[in-house]
Amino acid sequence: MTISFKDRVAIVTGAGGGIGRAYALELARRGAKVVVNDLGGARDGTGHSDMALQVVEEIKAAGGEAMSNGGSVTEYDQMAEMVAKTKEAWGRVDILINNAGILRDKSFTKMEPADFELVVKVHLIGSAYATKAVWDTMREQNYGRILMTSSSTGLYGNFGQANYGAAKLGLVGLTKTLAIEGAKNNIKVNNIAPVAATRMTEDIFPEAALALFAPELVVPASLYLVSEEAPTNTTLGAGAGVVHAANVTMTNGVLLGADERNPEGVAKHFAEITDRAGETVPQTGAEQSGLVMGKLSGN
Ligand code: NAI
Repeated sequence: MTISFKDRVAIVTGAGGGIGRAYALELARRGAKVVVNDLGGARDGTGHSDMALQVVEEIKAAGGEAMSNGGSVTEYDQMAEMVAKTKEAWGRVDILINNAGILRDKSFTKMEPADFELVVKVHLIGSAYATKAVWDTMREQNYGRILMTSSSTGLYGNFGQANYGAAKLGLVGLTKTLAIEGAKNNIKVNNIAPVAATRMTEDIFPEAALALFAPELVVPASLYLVSEEAPTNTTLGAGAGVVHAANVTMTNGVLLGADERNPEGVAKHFAEITDRAGETVPQTGAEQSGLVMGKLSGN
């Protein structure tokens, strides 16, 4: 099976460098018309530059089609304008990769409220804004592929990244509900948790790891997740050629006896409550409620 993006129109946010640039180049190489969005700021989100334009030139030099966009994902109007310009030029939007991001790492003790707010704004609110800007178009087309960018920090935590982790797990929640809401219009919504050597990780990764984690090695999983054949509501981790899936699981749980429905009863059964044997992965909140109801009726 060959995965082609011929005649597809794709928007990649934060595609002026790092992983986003690698997405844009490969989408274009496989036939997509690509909007390369990037504010062109520094890693902490300050400043502007023409990073997006340089990637567009690279794509054009290789014979592909692309246009640049310098809008910020934190401004809904700029995202709406980007989508309007895309449709004016190419008539549709098939793919949105929400990839733009910044870091303002500090232990929570030292983290200023403004650093918490801006990181959540760029990653979580920014992805919601860009998605909202394409949503009606994808519904009308009865076709859409949206990829959110999570992180191992969101899924599992990391010291010094309370702001980033909160935003990144928020994106899993956004993915899950939009996958449900988009289903009837063939809009598939997925999530990638990448690991790559970029300016975001250059001073975090040991030197030897940098060579193994080329941003290009995140591309296969992400492009599969925005292809025609894509699943929906899936979170994949990808880096250095390794691809895995991450799930939000639920243990079988315990139906507390009538005289155990108190904190002491939870303490008594805690080992059984948290026992992972036979745990499930509910696909919707309603399915989770159904499993709880099943427990009540002894199933
Ligand atoms: P990067 O810093 O090279 O790329 C992020 C891009 O987003 C930058 O080019 C930046 O200018 C752009 N950007 C920032 N704020 C923006 C805004 N308001 N509007 C538009 N563009 C904006 O970093 P990298 O590593 O390529 O990160 C890409 C995504 O992958 C990010 O969401 C990041 O959080 C995520 N990620 C990366 C990991 C890694 O190992 N490199 C690990 C986990 C997640």
